[in-house]
Amino acid sequence: MKKVLVTGGLGFIGSEAVICLIENGYEPVIIDNLFNAKVAVLDRIETITHFRPKFYEVDATDEEATEKVFAENEIDAVIHFAGYKAVGESVEKPLEYYENNLESLIVIAKCMKRHNVKNIIFSSSATVYGVPSRVPLYESDPVAEATNPYGETKVMIERILKDLQKADPTLNVGILRYFNPIGGHPSGLLGEDPNGIPNNLLPYVSQVAIGKLKCLKIFGDDYPTVDGTGVRDYIHVVDLAEGHVATLKKLEENPGYVVYNLGTGKGTSVLELVHAYEKANGVKIPYVIAPRRAGDVAENYADCEKAAKELHWRAKFTIEDACRDAYNFQKNNPEGIK
Ligand code: WQD
Repeated sequence: MKKVLVTGGLGFIGSEAVICLIENGYEPVIIDNLFNAKVAVLDRIETITHFRPKFYEVDATDEEATEKVFAENEIDAVIHFAGYKAVGESVEKPLEYYENNLESLIVIAKCMKRHNVKNIIFSSSATVYGVPSRVPLYESDPVAEATNPYGETKVMIERILKDLQKADPTLNVGILRYFNPIGGHPSGLLGEDPNGIPNNLLPYVSQVAIGKLKCLKIFGDDYPTVDGTGVRDYIHVVDLAEGHVATLKKLEENPGYVVYNLGTGKGTSVLELVHAYEKANGVKIPYVIAPRRAGDVAENYADCEKAAKELHWRAKFTIEDACRDAYNFQKNNPEGIK
């Protein structure tokens, strides 16, 4: 297996996966519509790896353009990251989310069928578990009614891929359920670079750390958790990227349809993360306690023993490592990647 098509390959997670693929002897081919990514990321991938992957500015819902990429490249596997991913936005714009996320998967699956591509890894999310009845979460836990259209598209795409694999047993499908990706490349060249005011905790903290934002609002300190603030499973984005390479290797064993949680197996509260960030970087993060955010759950973290056993993969980086890499990226790119 050599040529891997990475859709959304210039994004926060996609670009880290491209770097890991190159470092492991694969040849990534990137498609990205630049809706939530910058083409300058390609230069940074080249700076880090001394290899410039082929890049097509293509929207994965555009079947003609996507077909051309498959026709021009002997693709052995697809890693499908491309998709809208803002939870709150998906509640306001459900139609855009269903159209974009489902259509891009269907276009990719049709191109794979036409070109006899038998391996796909799908970027899924812990949101498919809905509101957890208990933690940690296991892959065998039921996929629930997700709490938002974004999560619903992940549930639906998992089901579509499961049915495609049932109909064609020669297909190999790797479903990877991410918990909370954080951090950035140790070089400081790549990291989480959201447009506008960050929704997610870590990029918000990083912008407070460099003085771009004034003060962190902690959404609720009255949850039934260790210190009342929300608990999540924060995984370093480089660990997450390595999990994709480990899954590619697994698909070479023709396992059929496989599902893995990619997390650390450890829960960290908002306050614990803020303190780890301050300690790792010698900064002060001013915060106020604000009301709970709609849709938030108290605790959400993974059991990752299945990935450890079957993929021989485990997260290696600590929360402090991720806080250091996130801060390093933000300091080097105060206005984001231009
Ligand atoms: C983490 C914790 C907040 C911001 C979401 C998506 C998930 C995935 C990751 C796409 C919570 C608290 C946050 C802030 C805060 N995205 N918080 N102040 O909601 O766990 O997961 O992003 O795949 O699918 O659901 O991540 O970083 O938004 O929140 O107090 O300014 O930080 O309440 O407890 P979340 P998050």
